Amino acid sequence: MVFLQTRLKIGFIGAGNMAQAMIKGMLQSGNVSPARIFVSSRTSQKPQKVRDLYNIQICANNEDLVETCDVVILAMKPQDLSPAIEPIAKLFDEKQIVVSLAAGLRLETLEKILPQCRLVRLMPNTPSLIQKGSIGCLVNDDTDESLPDLMEDMFSCLGTVHRMDTEDQFESFMIACSAGTGFVYELMVYWQDWLEEHGFDSAAARRMTQEVFLGAALMAKQNIDQSLEELQGKVTSKKGVTSAGLDSMRELEMERALRISFEKAALRNKEINRQMKSS
Ligand SMILES: NC(=O)c1ccc[n+]([C@@H]2O[C@H](COP(=O)([O-])OP(=O)(O)OC[C@H]3O[C@@H](n4cnc5c(N)ncnc54)[C@H](OP(=O)(O)O)[C@@H]3O)[C@@H](O)[C@H]2O)c1
Repeated sequence: MVFLQTRLKIGFIGAGNMAQAMIKGMLQSGNVSPARIFVSSRTSQKPQKVRDLYNIQICANNEDLVETCDVVILAMKPQDLSPAIEPIAKLFDEKQIVVSLAAGLRLETLEKILPQCRLVRLMPNTPSLIQKGSIGCLVNDDTDESLPDLMEDMFSCLGTVHRMDTEDQFESFMIACSAGTGFVYELMVYWQDWLEEHGFDSAAARRMTQEVFLGAALMAKQNIDQSLEELQGKVTSKKGVTSAGLDSMRELEMERALRISFEKAALRNKEINRQMKSS
């Protein structure tokens, strides 16, 4: 573990949901002590709450944090990032690793603000909040092979870290795995609604829905030698019940509807990227 051998100081600018989830995950992993985690934020309430919970260090402002830390994680909303970082960009040095969580902000844009730094784009999805995330990671320095490994060690406490080769891959990952979490909830709502319409109370319907999605996902995970189609084949007998439902899904072109929805999300993402570039 590269990360375990380092004594890096890790700073979070922003102390919201994702920063708190990352701090919790890092401390639970035992890879880092609270003495090496620093936080700064716009207002003092959230940092104080995080310090009370985890005994981490608070910096008086973003400038202090940048001057203290080896790794700076930009954990604010995308629209807050440039206004916060541009005025203090000169304080960053070339050894610093800057990790941006901001959707819609490409590395090339961040490079214009912080050309001297080693830059990383990280996209944790919401299950990262419970350490079951799928996390996309893109670095801007092809020459430093240790950086992706370090990032993997540092963030595997949130789930599985997937290394991306290009911005386009990163954006596709974001649609399928980050926005995709929301798409899966949409399907889960249909399941729950249908069960409720057929007499189950909402708590039972929700539990059953959770079990079906979790069960199918775990089966897929534990039977990696079988394709998803093969696993599906095992619950589908010819002219049987599952088969009738699947035939209808295919007749109604569910795949096409989902594909269009993915593409619409990708288009919206491009639109937001353009807006952020021009603002
Ligand atoms: N939550 C998720 O599931 C998730 C998933 C993937 C990616 N992300 C990304 O993670 C980032 C953070 O999201 P979040 O959900 O954690 O947001 P959040 O809960 O709204 O937290 C944002 C934090 O940024 C702080 N902030 C804003 N402007 C600042 C400034 N100028 N200086 C210092 N701190 C500042 C806010 O401070 P105040 O509270 O004082 O205003 C707040 O503590 C976003 O880029 C988001 O796209 C989140």
